[in-house]
Amino acid sequence: MSNSILLSPLKSKHLDLSNRIAMAPLTRCRAKDNLVGEMQVQYYSMRADAGLIITEGAPVSSEAIGYPDIPGIYTRQQVEAWKKVTDAVHQKNGKIFVQLWHVGRISHPVFLNGQLPLAPSAIQSSTLARTKNGKLPRPIPKAMSFEEIQKTVKDFAQAAENAVEAGFDGVEIHGANGYLINQFLCDGSNKRTDEYGGDIPSRCRFAMEIIRAVTETIGTSKTGIRLSPGGIGNDIYDSDPKSLFGYLIKELDLMDLAYLHLLEPYQDLSHLPNTVQSIAKHFRSMYQGTLMINNGFQMASAEQILQEGFADLVSFGKLFISNPDLVNRFRINAPLNAWDEDTFYSEGPKGYIDYPIFESNS
Ligand SMILES: Cc1cc2nc3c(=O)[nH]c(=O)nc-3n(C[C@H](O)[C@H](O)[C@H](O)COP(=O)(O)O)c2cc1C
Repeated sequence: MSNSILLSPLKSKHLDLSNRIAMAPLTRCRAKDNLVGEMQVQYYSMRADAGLIITEGAPVSSEAIGYPDIPGIYTRQQVEAWKKVTDAVHQKNGKIFVQLWHVGRISHPVFLNGQLPLAPSAIQSSTLARTKNGKLPRPIPKAMSFEEIQKTVKDFAQAAENAVEAGFDGVEIHGANGYLINQFLCDGSNKRTDEYGGDIPSRCRFAMEIIRAVTETIGTSKTGIRLSPGGIGNDIYDSDPKSLFGYLIKELDLMDLAYLHLLEPYQDLSHLPNTVQSIAKHFRSMYQGTLMINNGFQMASAEQILQEGFADLVSFGKLFISNPDLVNRFRINAPLNAWDEDTFYSEGPKGYIDYPIFESNS
């Protein structure tokens, strides 16, 4: 497809990418002892043709963990381990950002040495925790103290510094999908009466403090953020997401970030108040910088949204799980491998580094 926008380079103020296809962040639960190893080196380097790889969520501290075997970015050993991944991707001229993650209440004491998960308020998520001992109900989390909030902001900044040391081209702050930052944003999970709760600017304070701390540490050019204004997963709820995310995205527009990564909703939201069903279309006019869009895209729909100017980059998740050579398959219009949900979070190489590369017989 010679006239493909998706396959054309993106040169923005902060990004210089060989195409507009990003690999979406994908937790795969295969990092033993919270460390990446040889399997992850192979997995990411096989996908280095993506204009930009965003890694699986990487917890910024031991308190930020909410799933088994996810790779951290808070110890020296973790930084050294990630260097092998970034080197391998760079050797293939790829670009790679790490996603900085704190799950907040979407955790369980089994991941936290018996401690309670942290959250803006002591409000439980009704979802179940996926642990090595099966699915477990979540406890009521601990409402964070002012000191715990300040420490967490510092943890994000330190993780960003670690990321640059590990060779990453930048970081994506995970503000989406019902995790800690999203919990602070939304009034269903944030009932605080101090400066981190209440009206919209106050609920956005935690996110903005993290963004400022990260950008002051590694620069705006290396900092992206992911938001899900239409997300209701992980039991997240806001009474007026249209106003909340309208405010936040306009604030982010002033920050000169590498990119803003938005998710379209997973479902029809029309039964809920003040929601936005078409995220890119609604928020594009509020954001002048580089906008990445995700959720459910195929090549044709990705081309269309870029063509219409509602986004500058499209990220693909599940298609990258099953098609390490997704960019080439798009280029030559090759058939795509189907993904196997049973191996999304399983152990070992199956469903991870054994999906076949397309080989043409002609
Ligand atoms: C196995 C799996 C793991 C995921 N892990 C993350 C993650 O670590 N961080 C994140 O922001 N989103 C995560 N997501 C969401 C994806 O980034 C993406 O938003 C979702 O798969 C929809 O895009 P797609 O239709 O292209 O797959 C995950 C999704 C899947 C299927």
